[in-house]
This record gives sequence, C-alpha cells and structure tokens, in this order.
Amino acid sequence: MRFGQFDDKRKEYLITTPTTPYPWINYLGSERFFSLISQQGGGYCFYRDARLRRITRYRYHNVPTDAGGRYFYIRDENGDYFTPTYGPVKRKLDRFECRHGLGYTKVSGKRADISAECLYLVPLGTNAEIHQLTLTNEGPRPRKLRVFSFIEFCLWNAMDDFTNFQRNFNTGEVEVEGSTIYHKTEYRERRDHYAFYHVNSKLAGFDTDRETFFGLYNGMHEPEVVEQGASRNSVAHGWAPIASHSVDVSLAPGESKSLVFVLGYVENPVAEKWERPGVINKRPAKQLIEKYSTPAQVEAAMQELRDYWDDLLSRYVLESKDERLNRMVNVWNPYQCMVTFNMSRSASYFETGIGRGMGFRDSNQDLLGFVHQVPERARERIIDIASTQFADGSAYHQYQPLTKRGNNDVGSGFNDDPLWLILGVAAYVKETGDYAILDEQVPFDNDEKNTATLLEHLKRSFDHVVNNLGPHGLPLIGRADWNDCLNLNCFSETPDEPYQTTGNRVGRTAESIFIAGMFVGIGPEYATLCERKGMAEEARRARSEIDKMRSAVLTDGWDGSWFLRAYDYFGNKVGSKECAEGQIFIEPQGYCVMARIGVETGEAKNALDSVGERLATPYGIVLQNPPYQTYHLELGEISSYPPGYKENAGIFCHNNPWIMIGETILGRGDRAFDYYKRIAPSYLEDISDLHRTEPYVYSQMVAGKDASGQPGEAKNSWLTGTAAWNFVAISQHMLGVRPEHDGLIVSPCIGTEIGEFTVTRKWRGATYVIKVKNTGTSWNRPRLVVDGSPIEGSLVPQAPKGATVHVECTV
Ligand code: BGC
Repeated sequence: MRFGQFDDKRKEYLITTPTTPYPWINYLGSERFFSLISQQGGGYCFYRDARLRRITRYRYHNVPTDAGGRYFYIRDENGDYFTPTYGPVKRKLDRFECRHGLGYTKVSGKRADISAECLYLVPLGTNAEIHQLTLTNEGPRPRKLRVFSFIEFCLWNAMDDFTNFQRNFNTGEVEVEGSTIYHKTEYRERRDHYAFYHVNSKLAGFDTDRETFFGLYNGMHEPEVVEQGASRNSVAHGWAPIASHSVDVSLAPGESKSLVFVLGYVENPVAEKWERPGVINKRPAKQLIEKYSTPAQVEAAMQELRDYWDDLLSRYVLESKDERLNRMVNVWNPYQCMVTFNMSRSASYFETGIGRGMGFRDSNQDLLGFVHQVPERARERIIDIASTQFADGSAYHQYQPLTKRGNNDVGSGFNDDPLWLILGVAAYVKETGDYAILDEQVPFDNDEKNTATLLEHLKRSFDHVVNNLGPHGLPLIGRADWNDCLNLNCFSETPDEPYQTTGNRVGRTAESIFIAGMFVGIGPEYATLCERKGMAEEARRARSEIDKMRSAVLTDGWDGSWFLRAYDYFGNKVGSKECAEGQIFIEPQGYCVMARIGVETGEAKNALDSVGERLATPYGIVLQNPPYQTYHLELGEISSYPPGYKENAGIFCHNNPWIMIGETILGRGDRAFDYYKRIAPSYLEDISDLHRTEPYVYSQMVAGKDASGQPGEAKNSWLTGTAAWNFVAISQHMLGVRPEHDGLIVSPCIGTEIGEFTVTRKWRGATYVIKVKNTGTSWNRPRLVVDGSPIEGSLVPQAPKGATVHVECTV
C-alpha cells in the first residue's frame, strides 16, 4: 500500500495522507542551522550541535508520536479551528498534502473552504527556518480568520532540557518587541546567543508562556487561547517559554494572503551582547528578518536552494527506462548521502541528537557517498577525522563535532577503524586528483606538537593491522570491528555496562576475518598512493603484507563453503558450520569477495552462493544465520537482540551492497541488481504499510526472516552508512562508472533488465557522457569508444577541464 508518490519533475515526494505508517520526515539546512520536519510539521531545529545548541523542543517518547513542531492554528469567526498539518488538532481536512523536497517541505491542508499552505525552508547561508503561510479563501463568502502560530523553545542543552527540571523551570526568559518574540534563556550569563520568532505582520496578540497558551492540563490539540480566540500576551518567567503570535487575516472570496515567519538564531560578540542593561542587542536579528520579510524574498531563497541542489545532483545523472532506479540514483540516494554527511548519526527520529559523536568509521564510509558532490568539504572532513587518530595508528571511535576532539567515553580499540581512513582518503584523491592532501601535516590526537603527513597517518593505519595479528596471522578484532555488537573480548554479565567498552577479557586471540578482508581490499589503495608519491619500496612492502593476509584468509579463514567470521577469545570459530547458531555471516563474504579473495580459485563464488542460499530474503540479506536464541557471554551484544533484529540476523542494509559489489566482481550483474531492488526504497513504495519508514530513503535495519514481529518492517531511517554504500554499489559497480587515479573506469555489470542507459558524470572539471548498450553478456570485456575512437580496456583517460567526452560502451 502507498501513502503518496514520487514527483520526479519537482524532485519531491508527495505524501497524500497525514497518517503515514511512521512519521515521514525531511531535513532542512545545509551548513550550520538544521531542522527535522515531518509530514505533520513535527520536529525541531538546532544550530550546529543537536545536543548543545537545540533551538526548539521535541519529545521523543511522546504519546501520540511526533508531537512538537511548528504549528499554525487557523481559527474561524465561528470558533472552528484547524491545523493544516492535520496534527496536532486533527480536525478533518478536506484536502491534505505534504511535499518533501530538497531542503524544503510544503504542507497544505484545507478545511471549510480555507486552504492553508505552509512552506518551510532554511535558506542557504542563513541561520533561520522560514515559514511562509499562504491562506486562500476558496469559498463564496468573505472570511475573517485569526491565525495563531506556535513553537516551543528548548533551553539550549537538549540533555539538560529533559532531565534537569529543578533548574530549568526557573531559567526561562524572553523579550517581546513588535512582532518578534526573543528567547534569551541564560543569555544573562555565559551564552552569547538567542533565538527569535518573528512574523511580518501586526499582531493581534502573543503568548510566550506555554501553560498560559495551552492550559496546564490541555494537549497541543486544544490550546485554551485558540479555543477562546484571543492571545493573552503572556511573558514567560521560567517554566516553558514558547512563541505564539496571533494575526488577523481577512479574505475576500478567491483571495490569498501570505505571512512570512522567521525562526532565527543569532550570536553576538561578548562586547555587543546588550543594547542597554537587561535588553539584548537585537540588531543582527533585525537584519536577518529584513532579508526574509516578503514572499518575493522567500521565492528568491527557494530558487537559490533549487539551484544549489541542481548543481550538486548534476555530478552523476542517470537516464534509464527504469524510473525507480533513476530517482534513487539521481535524487534521493545522493540527497540522503548529503544529509548523512551533515548529521552523521546525531539527529533523526531514531537518534535523539544527544547521544553519539561522529564515528571514525562511519564518517569515512559516509564520505564515499558525498565526495563527488562537495569535495572541498570532504577534504576538511578527512583532516578532522585524521587529526583524532593516535600515533600508533589506532583511532578514537568517535569525536565530537563542536570540539573536533576524540571522545574519551568510548575511547579506541575498534580495530577496523584505522583502515576506513585509507578508504576515505583514496576515494577523495581519486575523485579530485588532489595528491597534495597526502602531504598535509596532520596532528595525532589533536596534539599540534605531534604531527605527521596524512600519508604517514595512512601508513600507521595500515601498520596498525600488521602490528596486531593473532595466532592465525589474522587481525585482532579488539573491542569490535564493523559489527559493533560482536564483542569478543567483553564478557558482560552486568546490566547497564556498555558492551563495547567493558573489555574485561582483553586478550590477543580473538581475530576478525572481516578485518582481514578489509585489509586485502583496502590495503592496495595505500600501496597505490605510495607508488604515486614515489615510495616504491614501501608499496612493495605493503603488497607483500597484503599477500600474506590473503593466504592467511584462505588457510585459516575459509570454512568450506563460506568465509569464517572470527575466532573468539578461546580460539573457537565464529560463523562456521561447526557452530550451532551464527553459522554464516554476511560481512566477511562481502568484504573478502570485494577484496577478490578466492575469485580465481572458486571460494568467492562458493561464498556468495551460500549467501544466496542461507541469508537472502525477499526484503534483503540478513546479517547471519541461524540467529542466536540465547545470550552468549563470549560474543557480546550481538546475542542480546531478539532473533531477527539488528545485528542478530536483522537485515542490516549497510552491508547488503558489499554483496552486490561482490556479485559484480563475479560478473553476476543480474543477482547484484536483484539484491539492490530488494532494499532500495523506491522499489518498496507499494509495501509502505509493511516497511513503515519513508519510501525515499534507506533505513539502517529491516526485520529479518527470523523476527517474531513483522519481517520486512524497517527501523532507523536516514542516518546510516547504507546510503553511501548503496550509492557506491549502484553508481560505481552496477552502472559501473567510477573514478580511478588517471581516468574514469566504465565497466557496467547490472544484468539484462536495464538495457540501454546513459550516465552523465562530471569529474575533475570535465563532463563525460557515457552511453551504454547493455546486453549483460560480456560484462568483463566492455568495449569502449571514446570520442569516436575505440580504446583498449575500461579506463577512459582524464580529459582537460571544460571538455565534454562522449563515450559509447557495449557490454
Ligand atoms: C554503527 C556502525 C556499525 C553498525 C553495525 C551502526 O549503528 O553506526 O558504526 O558499523 O551499527 O554494528
């Protein structure tokens, strides 16, 4: 069942019912000021850090769900009122639609001949949400309406805001001047920032105290002020500051009027904090308001936003006969990659924005999905990440975005982490040709007195594996590898202790075949970078270490029909046919085949066939099989989940693309594309009632075949490495256009279903128009004609900046 449809021309998803199976959200903002917004206008905004600088309040555990947002109560003279977003009032609407677009959302609702359209956006370069409310009288008689706006302020620190009530109920402060309500809690002491909510119209009244506006025992659907039709001009002293304007709007039949609201954030230099004692300096707020006080200014901001996205999305454009594929590749997948870049794992409807910092491994993998869109920002991100690395090559597992420093609570010891840095840097260099980044001096652990070149950081990453091998010559796993929940050195029997950091059985026996696969797959990227920098000897050394690892995998990491997952603390096999549960895991099959281990000798094919038989389901590939039915002290968190969920045999969409890429290495494009379609959201639109999360973005996890609830039900949409890896799998391996050091590889492997297609790729200043005739048969020998001349192999040489290169490819 569907709850809307894609509007490809406008690059929007159109939602036609307010009661989607889960809140379907969008993100606003692209630099510093960010917002989450659902189809009912729910959500919140923050400045840079969702924990420390939360601007509006949101309740994750609320009943009903998704309460708290930006609301407009529209009240008729006769006392009837509604919210065009449906919630929170939930009075019947004669028409509803929500359009989630790129960086904006438009929700409209109609009741009793009044249609109300709310456009929400964060303009480029602006620290504010703009809300434009357009009211139209579609009926035959003149109407007199009163509009009440509503937003609720968060007292900045979101963690404190919902824990420390004995303090918070005393600190709230506001100022009201003209049509602007200013939120200045804690501004009198250490803060240099305030928020404000403005409307470009004379007010009938206002409220800034929540209790006065709603009535203490009322829900958001029944504000006393709206019920009674008049604001009370309340000024909050402590308790819960809100901002509500009331504005009168008269409409002749057929007439439309727009109100423009600005919900902004301002920082003042310490010396300029005050206008006079006790009165905040409002100049910057007024300047911001000036910029967005007319619908024409809002339209100009919308146009800028459209141009910005058109440019970002123009770097890789697919034309094929499959519109579901086109919209994933051209719009929604790269859009999700950019949102994930902006948010990391901080704020979504599944991440509260107060939890984790930026992940070392997550950020490096996310980079694969956005590097072609914003290479300069990727560069900055790489330096930030590498600066948190330790001198021995290990890495803080997370760092805080505001301070850019490693997070001591989680610390280090996740032994896959260092290798992801090599992958991220290699992807950046191949995209940009910026070898100079390798010579940048980058600190270890943010210590400016202890620095080395970025290439030296990569060497330390590489050697961190070489220096930490276990009894079989395979990499020690440490606290965990990619699978955060496979904790082989943690034997936790105490509730509330973190599985990853307990580490009470640290030994040098638990080994990861997954990290071995990564080393063989990613290590050559390091060796190539060394060669490029004239370090042939170091490259040779690296390649010989890689060869040793490949042999170790084939000797002690092969289980007969698939790759083993690990050896545990006691040296027992994990992910083996000898195990009662957890016999086969997806991760080593994906990464070892991506590393081409056993491609010539048959193990690779055998492994992926086993994945097809044991792990594939109609809704994606589960993480392992059979699931753990009981808690295994020696395996850790993985066995803490009920069977079929998360790392215990859920469908972890992040690593499905590793199998897809593996299949293309074996030349089985049909299988790769089949797996792709099982989890790509646009193909799941018809089962939205089962899937529940947004049909335009990936979710981290889908309940697996062993789930006792609903197999196929998704959770944790938006902020997941799934976005980047699926983009890599489809764009670089199935459609087969990927940057290499000296050119673009064109080598499609997508099976026969897609037939002919064209990819337009902008790369290093030139444009490549690649037309593919795809019979799906000779996948390993693409025939290329470049600007009319046949070439050998699959590498289209780099063209000068400004050139347009025409490539014909036959497979
Ligand atoms: C984490 C990843 C991890 C994955 C699998 C995600 O929640 O962000 O770092 O690789 O889970 O455990």
